[in-house]
Amino acid sequence: MPENIDTLLKESRLYRPSAQTMAAAHIQDYESAYKKSIADPEGFWSDVAKELEWFTPWSKVLEWNYPWAKWFVGATCNITYNCLDRHAKTWRKNKVAIIWVGENDQERVITYGELYRQVNRCANALKRLGLIKGDRVTIYLPKVPEQIVAMLACARIGVIHSVVYSGFSAPALASRIQDAEAKLVITADVGFDRGKVLNLKQVVDQAVANSPTVVRVVVLRRQTPAAPLSGPKEIDWHDWLKDEKAVCEAEQLDAEHPLYILYTSGTTGKPKGVVHVHGGYMVGTYITTKYVFDLKEDDVYFCVADPGWVTGHSYIVYGPLLNGATILTAEGKPDYPNPGRWWNLIERYGVSIFYTTPTAIRLLMRYGEDWPKKYDLSTIRILGSVGEPINPEAWEWFHRAAGGDKPIMDTWWQTETGSILITPLPTVPLKPGSATRPFLGIEADVVDSAGNSLPANAGGFAVIKKPWPSMMRTIYKDPERYKTYWNTIPNCYTAGDICHKDEDGYMWFMGRADDVIKVAGNRLGTAEVESALVSHHSVAEAAVIGKPHKLVGESIKAFIILKQGEVESPALIQSIKDQVLHELGKIAVPSEIDIVPSLPKTRSGKIMRRVLKAKELGQDLGDISTIED
Ligand code: WT7
Repeated sequence: MPENIDTLLKESRLYRPSAQTMAAAHIQDYESAYKKSIADPEGFWSDVAKELEWFTPWSKVLEWNYPWAKWFVGATCNITYNCLDRHAKTWRKNKVAIIWVGENDQERVITYGELYRQVNRCANALKRLGLIKGDRVTIYLPKVPEQIVAMLACARIGVIHSVVYSGFSAPALASRIQDAEAKLVITADVGFDRGKVLNLKQVVDQAVANSPTVVRVVVLRRQTPAAPLSGPKEIDWHDWLKDEKAVCEAEQLDAEHPLYILYTSGTTGKPKGVVHVHGGYMVGTYITTKYVFDLKEDDVYFCVADPGWVTGHSYIVYGPLLNGATILTAEGKPDYPNPGRWWNLIERYGVSIFYTTPTAIRLLMRYGEDWPKKYDLSTIRILGSVGEPINPEAWEWFHRAAGGDKPIMDTWWQTETGSILITPLPTVPLKPGSATRPFLGIEADVVDSAGNSLPANAGGFAVIKKPWPSMMRTIYKDPERYKTYWNTIPNCYTAGDICHKDEDGYMWFMGRADDVIKVAGNRLGTAEVESALVSHHSVAEAAVIGKPHKLVGESIKAFIILKQGEVESPALIQSIKDQVLHELGKIAVPSEIDIVPSLPKTRSGKIMRRVLKAKELGQDLGDISTIED
């Protein structure tokens, strides 16, 4: 493992919360709230848990059998009871839960009462097919409300859902169905992507042909005339639900009962089935949504993720519904039919909380600031970013585009962590490019490979020192792989990210440990070099890799996408190198720069540097099932 990561990036800008933000915030004083939570984490988490409803209480908050955790031991609960019944019992029954907008601008508005009824019908329909507690269902749907209904319906009766993003190919879907041994697959005839029709049913047909555990396939038919189904295995979604009763009591489940499996790509080998459970996951997603986004009753909350990824699970579906929020969710891409798409939706629905990704921000940056300027974005209160380090340039652009005075929550977490762990709260002063501080109840540090805490500004491994409620409980059917997260560095959870803390304790994520580049005795994180590259006015996106070099160990090669209208020239390449020299110093200047039309990305938008590297070195590309194109 790499040691002693060098930190080169110096960012000195500081943004303090506005008086308005301060006045509204749930947590006024982060420092004292944090200290208190860390002095007694179990007390903190149990107080949070008491804000939710449980069928029977816990006898113990945490049982920690390193590296196995159980939270809220002995309690029974059901996450959907807290997402639905808790609101449908009150005035919120007629509050809007979901506003859905299709790629073609079709709109559907679903209240908490209606969502409750739809989920119950679907839960009853699942029961009618013979599904019982502990069975697995694979959900391969585009971003439509039925995707959310299906997830909640499974959870309602203790069935474990495995949502597979609808961009995955048949072999990738098949391997996930097979690993989960799913009995049922829920899909749609088609999805839409920038006007293109994606034939999802065809993908499922291929995947199911090789998946003997699947006994039924439910198909949501969006097109007219509806495509034929081959009975009796295939059932139409609407026929499936139409005679079902709108009441289905939530199953009283042990707090540790699995809620879902979500497959995340490992760097090599087969995808890992991350397992989350009802109780702890409910507590973690509930409180992070409430505090990080400072959620209030009248907010309109817009998270651009797809429920096919963990961000959608935690911050479109579970976290916001647990809080009784109004959620806007939209099918489609940020630049279709034009780059004003999301700004337009924000204006149209009066969005107050907007949660997106650095990759999408950089895409929108390419089209310039005139697009956001066309719309009234004054309803925005809080912004969010997730998925990758956000480079200060993109941070500043996003901040300006959204009005110039709305705080950006740069939230660091992982599929495995279940909920946000390192993040500002709206009242925390912000430094562009830093995910700032640990969330309440979370002890985080930057350490060397022996687990020793590193001094300020020394780069090392980001670790979490104690278990937390929403942590994954295992990797499905692969406990050994789970253990590596807690074994790599003694006595803590290793995220696989490199990071440094500055003198104020702010955390700066610098990329994945696997991607570290070693140049002449220095070890550099990819994020800093890429951030310096995109700070050049002609550069839209950048990825860097290390290439073996006889003299210096590795040399840096950069792949760059230019902004619209920019033309490649030796002078431009030189000026980009000068920019890196100026920002970070000589050591970080790439020896080669290739201008490319696109970069290999995962379907969730992360740059796949290992693919660039393998290609550059003429090696085998490894598992590329998650690659976008
Ligand atoms: C990895 C986890 C968490 C939901 C989406 C991705 C990177 C995520 C940040 C951030 C720097 C970040 C890390 C992490 N990452 N958020 N705010 N700053 N890096 O989930 O696919 O499980 O990926 O994404 O490298 O380990 P995921």
